[in-house]
Amino acid sequence: MKILITGKGGREHALAWKAAQSPLVSKIYVAPGSAGMTCNLPQVQRVPINDTDNAALVHFAKTEQVDLTLVGPENALVNGIVDDFRQEGLSIFGPCKAAAQLEGSKLFAKQLMDKYGIPTARYAVFSDYEQALSHVQREGVPIVIKYDGLAAGKGVVVAQTEEEAVLTLQAMLLHSRFGEAKVVIEEFLQGPEFSLMALVHGETVVPLSVAQDHKRAFDGDKGPNTGGMGAYCPVPIISQKTIEQAVKTILQPVATAMVAEGNPFTGILYGGLMLTNAGPKVIEFNVRFGDPETEVVLPRMKSDLIQTILDLLNGKKPILEWHEDVFLGVVLASAGYPEMATKGSPIEGLENVNNLVFHCGTENRDGQWLTNGGRVLFVTGKGKDVAAARENAYMAVEQIHCKDIFYRRDIGIQSL
Ligand code: AMP
Ligand code: GLY
Repeated sequence: MKILITGKGGREHALAWKAAQSPLVSKIYVAPGSAGMTCNLPQVQRVPINDTDNAALVHFAKTEQVDLTLVGPENALVNGIVDDFRQEGLSIFGPCKAAAQLEGSKLFAKQLMDKYGIPTARYAVFSDYEQALSHVQREGVPIVIKYDGLAAGKGVVVAQTEEEAVLTLQAMLLHSRFGEAKVVIEEFLQGPEFSLMALVHGETVVPLSVAQDHKRAFDGDKGPNTGGMGAYCPVPIISQKTIEQAVKTILQPVATAMVAEGNPFTGILYGGLMLTNAGPKVIEFNVRFGDPETEVVLPRMKSDLIQTILDLLNGKKPILEWHEDVFLGVVLASAGYPEMATKGSPIEGLENVNNLVFHCGTENRDGQWLTNGGRVLFVTGKGKDVAAARENAYMAVEQIHCKDIFYRRDIGIQSL
């Protein structure tokens, strides 16, 4: 089989690595991919097409007779890549444009959860600044303000003070550069967060191993929110009972609701969930593999990912097998991330590392690895528990040297 994977980061490297283990797969195209993905995987070939160029990707998949396409980043999904592929009779694993709204529009997700009684934070929606302001004054802080639409660099603000809430509303509603702006204002929830992804096809929901990522840039959950600075899987503080409850009260009802709404969901449904005193509640949905969660979840998966997806698409409910080990990974990020990122700094010592390393943002010039993005490398470790996996991962991290890289030293520590 020929597989096409869109995207170029650590998540896509992990997808290519996992697909390469399948005996069904002879060729893996990555568009646009990165040099790091091809160095240990002879089946992988880069294709110079941007992951948001839906028309060129359709054309390529048709011409090369690609058997299955996996989509990395969300933008293409929200822009209807799945609809475009299906129209041409091409097989692709992801949600259609209408179903991708679960991630693309926070309001769509909230309204669906409301209608079907899926547990999430109470919310109200505003496009008028004055009304939003009086709502915040009535409800008090802390309060959560979310821009409606793909984050576009603004995203989510957990306002701890009224002043912060006012500034956020001004920025999102009065000074918006995105036309008609809307915000969702939410009740502040408390509890440990976890990421529960599931393979979904219509009403069939197959949960993956639970993971947790670390969103803040610096140790002790300080600093700005990032795409994620590390992750581990599974998560000891999230019990099997909680996972079953989350599937029963959240993931399965969402899949069923999407079918009932005439927009059946196919692909990865990612629940960003919080374990509150009243049980798991939804913080957000994503409609694709999480990054960096995928880089620890796929190494823990024993089953063949490609066979699993094919079974699911053919109407069979796959039963997944997992390794016993805990997997943990640390992001090495460029100095300045997430605001800006330095590029072009030499990375030394990669060749001494035997652990699984995924390339998030590197390039290779004449055999020399260089930084080339905000998140640069994802270094994994494994062990019988989180402590052992941490130790194993950080031993590998210490082999790698680059003057413009930083990383968190406390990945997985809260759970020990
Ligand atoms: P998101 O970009 O939607 O994942 O949100 C970023 C972070 O904001 C989440 O990981 C949470 O830590 C926090 N957050 C979002 N919504 C809420 C909420 N209703 N209550 C508390 N924290 C929240
Ligand atoms: N790690 C969070 C995300 O993939 O959005």
